[in-house]
Amino acid sequence: MGMSALGVKIGPLVMNSPIVMAGGIFSYGEVNIDFVNYKKLGAIVTKTVSLKPRKGNPQPRIWETSSGMINSVGLQNPGIKDFIKNTLPSIKRDGVKVIISIMGEDEEEISRITRILMGEKNSYNAIELNLSCPNVNRDEIMTSQSPEMTSKFVKSVKRVCGDMPLIVKLSPNVTDIVEIAASAEEAGADALSMINTVKALSVDFKNNRIIEGGLSGPSVKHIGLKAVYDVYKKSGIPIIGIGGITSGKDALEYIAVGASAVGLGSGFFSNPLLIDEVYDTLSRFLRENRFKTLADITGLLNEKKKQGQNMGRNFRGKRY
Ligand SMILES: Cc1cc2nc3c(=O)[nH]c(=O)nc-3n(C[C@H](O)[C@H](O)[C@H](O)COP(=O)(O)O)c2cc1C
Repeated sequence: MGMSALGVKIGPLVMNSPIVMAGGIFSYGEVNIDFVNYKKLGAIVTKTVSLKPRKGNPQPRIWETSSGMINSVGLQNPGIKDFIKNTLPSIKRDGVKVIISIMGEDEEEISRITRILMGEKNSYNAIELNLSCPNVNRDEIMTSQSPEMTSKFVKSVKRVCGDMPLIVKLSPNVTDIVEIAASAEEAGADALSMINTVKALSVDFKNNRIIEGGLSGPSVKHIGLKAVYDVYKKSGIPIIGIGGITSGKDALEYIAVGASAVGLGSGFFSNPLLIDEVYDTLSRFLRENRFKTLADITGLLNEKKKQGQNMGRNFRGKRY
């Protein structure tokens, strides 16, 4: 069967829509949300699961900022075995691909969790390796901050998961994200997700405390765009662009600089109809400008594609 105009391939993973719910936003995707049009959703990335249960951080875990939010959930989860037994069976949804997000504290742990997951490989469609959470062991560096550690972790998972599509999620809190992305690609990643939240802090005078965590929402969009632009220029694998998407136009921006698909995060919390808005905008943009597929506009404004395309022309006089 042929793909529709908005169908995309993220490495070996085929999706009916380029829209992904980013890690943690739909929890594990176990709840059917009645106002969500699942037909317009390509995949759901679960909340990140670890080998053993994790309690997460104390409250408050969510803090509103002037243009987004800070979260410090701390990767709370019941552990992989409990997740497989009690949550995974309720996730499967017609047509929407399920991407399971995993993390591990070392290579041994990440191999073990992958092995356990591979025992259930008919219940999901891809694995996302989360190397980038800033909430765990704040004083230690994240795996995604070291090209060597990134490589070791990706190899550990790929060795076990074989043909199962492997997406690697990167952190923007690095000196050079292009170097980390190259490490992940070289180690066997099929695709990249970027960006995770940006380390941030808020001052709460009223309660005499500070709130530390990961910033998301409109304030991180331009950080995400720059990361996708730079990585697309050098990399040969598809990118899921994430960070501060609150409109169809934001999604188009990510695609124009190099994303093959887009992830929705906190933007969904302020606009529950965001999936429809993004899907309909992308659809309309392709139709009105006579592009056949989304792949035709991926990276159009990236200097990697020196085709002299002027995407701005397509926006003139139209409201996307
Ligand atoms: C409440 C909340 C929980 C999150 N949980 C996870 C998670 O479990 N795993 C993960 O990889 N990213 C997690 N993220 C990060 C998002 O997937 C996304 O990368 C980030 O929020 C940036 O996108 P946004 O600006 O559109 O929100 C979480 C974000 C929020 C706001």
